[in-house]
Amino acid sequence: ILSPGLHKRVGDLLGKYLSQKTKSMDGSQDNLFPTALINDSIANPFEHKESPPKDKSVLDNALWRRSMHLSTEQQAWQRSSEGQKMLEFRRSLPAYKEKDAILNSISKNKVVIISGETGCGKTTQVPQFILESEINSLRGATCSIICTQPRRISAMSVSERIATERGEKLGENVGYKVRLEGKKGRNTHMLFCTSGILLRRLLVDGDLKGVTHVIMDEVHERGIDEDFLLTFMKELLPCRPELKLVLMSATINAEIFSSYFDGAPIIQIPGVTHPVHTYFLENILESTGYRLTVDNQIDDYGQAWKLNKQTPNIRKSQIASAIEEALRSADYSEYSQQTQDSLLCWNPDCINFNLIEYLLCNLCDNEKPGGILVFMTGWDDIISLKEKLQAHSVLGDPNRVLLLTCHGSMSSSEQRLIFEKVDSGVRKIVLATNIAETSITIDDLVFVIDCGKAKEASYDALNNTPCLLPSWISKVSAKQRRGRSGRVQPGECFHLYPRCVYDAFADYQLPKILRAPLQALCLQMKSLKLGSISGFLSRALQSPESLAVQNAIEYLKLIGALDENENLTILGGYLAMLPMEPKHGKMLVMGAILSCLDPLLTIVAGLSVRDPFLAPLEIKELAEAAKAQFSHGFSDHLALVRAYNGWKIAEQKRNGYKYCWKNFLSPQTMKAIDSLRREFKSVLKSICLVDNKASSYNTYSYDENLVRAVICSGLYPGVCSVVHRDNSLSLKTMEDGKVFLHSKSVNARDSKIPYPWLVFDKKVKVNSVYLQDSTAVSDSMLLLFGGSISIGDAEGHMKMLGGYLEFFMEPAAAIIYQTIKRELDELLQSK
Ligand code: CDP
Ligand code: MG
Repeated sequence: ILSPGLHKRVGDLLGKYLSQKTKSMDGSQDNLFPTALINDSIANPFEHKESPPKDKSVLDNALWRRSMHLSTEQQAWQRSSEGQKMLEFRRSLPAYKEKDAILNSISKNKVVIISGETGCGKTTQVPQFILESEINSLRGATCSIICTQPRRISAMSVSERIATERGEKLGENVGYKVRLEGKKGRNTHMLFCTSGILLRRLLVDGDLKGVTHVIMDEVHERGIDEDFLLTFMKELLPCRPELKLVLMSATINAEIFSSYFDGAPIIQIPGVTHPVHTYFLENILESTGYRLTVDNQIDDYGQAWKLNKQTPNIRKSQIASAIEEALRSADYSEYSQQTQDSLLCWNPDCINFNLIEYLLCNLCDNEKPGGILVFMTGWDDIISLKEKLQAHSVLGDPNRVLLLTCHGSMSSSEQRLIFEKVDSGVRKIVLATNIAETSITIDDLVFVIDCGKAKEASYDALNNTPCLLPSWISKVSAKQRRGRSGRVQPGECFHLYPRCVYDAFADYQLPKILRAPLQALCLQMKSLKLGSISGFLSRALQSPESLAVQNAIEYLKLIGALDENENLTILGGYLAMLPMEPKHGKMLVMGAILSCLDPLLTIVAGLSVRDPFLAPLEIKELAEAAKAQFSHGFSDHLALVRAYNGWKIAEQKRNGYKYCWKNFLSPQTMKAIDSLRREFKSVLKSICLVDNKASSYNTYSYDENLVRAVICSGLYPGVCSVVHRDNSLSLKTMEDGKVFLHSKSVNARDSKIPYPWLVFDKKVKVNSVYLQDSTAVSDSMLLLFGGSISIGDAEGHMKMLGGYLEFFMEPAAAIIYQTIKRELDELLQSK
């Protein structure tokens, strides 16, 4: 369709842009990655260390050792009563009794698995044992330990704790590094980081040069990054004779790691620190004076559920009816109807907020002092519960209760508040998702309330649709949640579900690699040059379905991250370095290059958190009308940009909260978007896609059509066609046929969308398929910015030449884009 002249112009432009870009990054044309810059952003803390003087006597070495590792203050602190107390405490932990066995095993084996109950000292002690033993054998200065944690909050809080235990400042011997944040210095010998950070380091340092020990904590969680790292380490170990791998896991499934690493030894740490008294729903009800007689039938249902693990819908409805039945037959006739209804109505499909409030009230009134941690499924529940509690006379009284929340999309400084001490007489209540489930210790915590659910990502490879739905947790998770209490003192845990439901929980969750889309992972593998993707994955601990792998590869080709031969393209190289889904990364890359970055930062940040537009059921109409004010332009994404820009101005005048209130926006979400925007921008800076001159990446930010085109470039192939028929709108996607718009979408309000296509980020399947946020785009935008697309018609297939520009253009190219667009529009009109 494009004229030969245009082809050439675009081609020339591309070549020019790319060679300039790579030159300015690394000084060499053929290196696609700005190595120096990545290195800096996830710097190897062990690079500059000094080695012990080789020719000195042992005495000198000992002196050197002391001066290297213990400052005078530190030595004084260790001798002080505080230091001695800490040492005593460390020695009292169950892990300490196994210290020699652990070190012995590590010295004799390349891979060692350590498992033990929560609180026994795995996370905080094992890395220190290793460091101390290395120091004692005079290898302190050359030892470098990387310890991975599944989440940012644990990497930060654990490193802080260890520094305290050693009487050091964080960033000396012990440091941490999480996305865009870190504390480490030249002498950091023990670095805590998220698994994602270690993966990104592999991009520039595939041999883990200089690293002597990799400790992977909480491996039983089986996140995608962790599973990938395990396979990677298995292949790296034979090439790195001096590298050791230590896996730490909860007790339940240590064996599979051992057999994956050819029978690596498992060291079991016996014993627990403090007892945790556990209550299930029936016990809680008993304690309220109610009795729940559990029907025998439930056990059968529990069995049925276990057998049907593969089909969650069946198990859910079965268990629901079983529990309803049990509750109905429970003997609580002597209590008033109202109390029964509010407390005893246990519906496995939703959280009983009344019961939580009742429990919290009871704990605050009657029980000994101590913090309470409540595990909820997600942000929405957390906020609803928080609002409910704030309205309560006791729980909402800030002089008596400090109510905190902890959720993945909060900034790390906000998350850290949960560790702060409270004044005596004030009770700390933390409402959290499963991010607070592992590795963390909240010192004053005594009680845990567990709703039994978490948002679980699953992936339907057949329809290629990811879903995120609340589902029951596993036995391991329940144990981890329970284990957050009883760490510093005896604790109590209330599981808000009957024992029989717990018995039917799966032992552990299906590994993430089997239930999530694999695009980001495949991209990572390609940039690590690991050869064929399916070959590598077939050597994983558990291999994902080949259809899921195939889908991911096809997708990456479609968006231009891989070429026809599955080789990484330049775009793919950039996307692999961005800590977000490839499609969102692509929007940022295109936004930076086409010089309209600002609105895309907002959009991508918005897509990474939750929808800031609130829709309270009771006043849904008002809320929708408020959103509609931002909606001209047939785009939910652009509506968000306008809402954010308005908020930013209001916020500068200290009116942000009022603005949100008036426009039905969530102030917390707006703040989260604001801080994510900043984070994303610094990542783009670190990979040289933006510099310090706003003019170079924001010149065309005002141009909504350009922004629309860039949204299209990211969201493609999430496209549906818009056809108007007799005043009604008919929407279709290639895979699903007829689809509908979510009622919150601004496009759902208007039956006349003056564009032929909508692009969307997510679709959800309820009874029909619903598109959540969408943006209307023109033919030429889809043609130029979507990947290649085959449109079927009765005569056969016409191949559209889309995706031509998915490589880079420089800012000036936006002008050429306009020309091409005009030519194309004319062309299409004439057809
Ligand atoms: O990893 P694991 O669950 O085995 O235990 P850990 O995180 O190493 O913690 C061991 C013990 O250290 C806990 O039971 C707490 O008593 C104590 N600890 C603490 O008091 N404060 C912290 N911030 C971390 C741990
Ligand atoms: Mg731990």
